[in-house]
Amino acid sequence: MSTDRKIKIIDKKPKKSSFKEEILDGLKKKPKRINPKFFYDEEGSKLFEEITETEEYYPTRTERGILEKNIDEICTYFGMGSALFEYGSGGSRKTMIILDHCKQIKAYVPMDISKTALEASAEKLSSRYGYLNVLPICVDYTKPFDIPFLDLEGNIIAIFLGSSIGNFEPETASQFLWNTMKNLGPEDGLLIGVDLKKEISVLERAYNDRKGVTEKFNLNLIDRINREFKINVKKSDFKHMAYYNVEKGRIEMHIEVLQEMDLDLMGTLIHFNQGERIHTENSYKYTREEFVELAKRNALEMIKYWTDEKNYFCIFLFKRSKKDS
Ligand code: AVJ
Repeated sequence: MSTDRKIKIIDKKPKKSSFKEEILDGLKKKPKRINPKFFYDEEGSKLFEEITETEEYYPTRTERGILEKNIDEICTYFGMGSALFEYGSGGSRKTMIILDHCKQIKAYVPMDISKTALEASAEKLSSRYGYLNVLPICVDYTKPFDIPFLDLEGNIIAIFLGSSIGNFEPETASQFLWNTMKNLGPEDGLLIGVDLKKEISVLERAYNDRKGVTEKFNLNLIDRINREFKINVKKSDFKHMAYYNVEKGRIEMHIEVLQEMDLDLMGTLIHFNQGERIHTENSYKYTREEFVELAKRNALEMIKYWTDEKNYFCIFLFKRSKKDS
């Protein structure tokens, strides 16, 4: 079925960040840092897809496996005429597993800060599921926002998959859960995928794959800096680094600078000592109990969870707890 109907994006006009400004701000800090959102230009998004296919990077395929295995049960939480709200543009295989099985879903509401990503996923899913009411919202969902009145028939199940919440600082993750809880009604649910704490070697291998895809993904930031600031530093002067910080419970990614250097970034000189690092990502891991506790503090009550045999990854279903409503 072809879709002639034009999908209308509800635009909450999120404040867009400027690459150059934010990169400069981060490189002036001590220690130097770059926000992981800057990984995802066209090349970086492709590289991330490639990471998910490496042998070592287990989260994506483990989460997908959990969804597939339990999809019949998961479907029972979607009522007639219900709406699937997705944090992040989605349009991915995981979203399609849900839409393929839960035919009572009548509306799909992807939420993303990127209009192009929203357009792509809205087009894709609306041509694949002709009956589906696709209502994309352009919004920065890391900040509080009201869901517009959408005249929905059934309950809402919000999904936040891929352990994206791991990129948030625990305090930010907590705020996100609170804001999300505020948008849920008594019949609604939040389905969220979380990467679990496990053996350090397994965690570290996932961010140091042998094919070097994660290394490319990390060092793609150097390409972006070269391009956007019109400079030409050698990527061979930088090294990918990823390790588990036990105390903080997170994988940290860094770019290590192998040669002392000064970069002229649009007139601002940034000095790098030999061996200095740029902190490019945190990926927090939780135990099941830690995450349930975090949710509980934000008035979210766990209804159910699903995990894999190795307990590598967990999908939780929460609802708004009665006490708070
Ligand atoms: C998309 C944030 C879940 O932290 O595992 C993969 C990103 N970084 N390899 C993660 C990532 C390096 C990924 N998340």
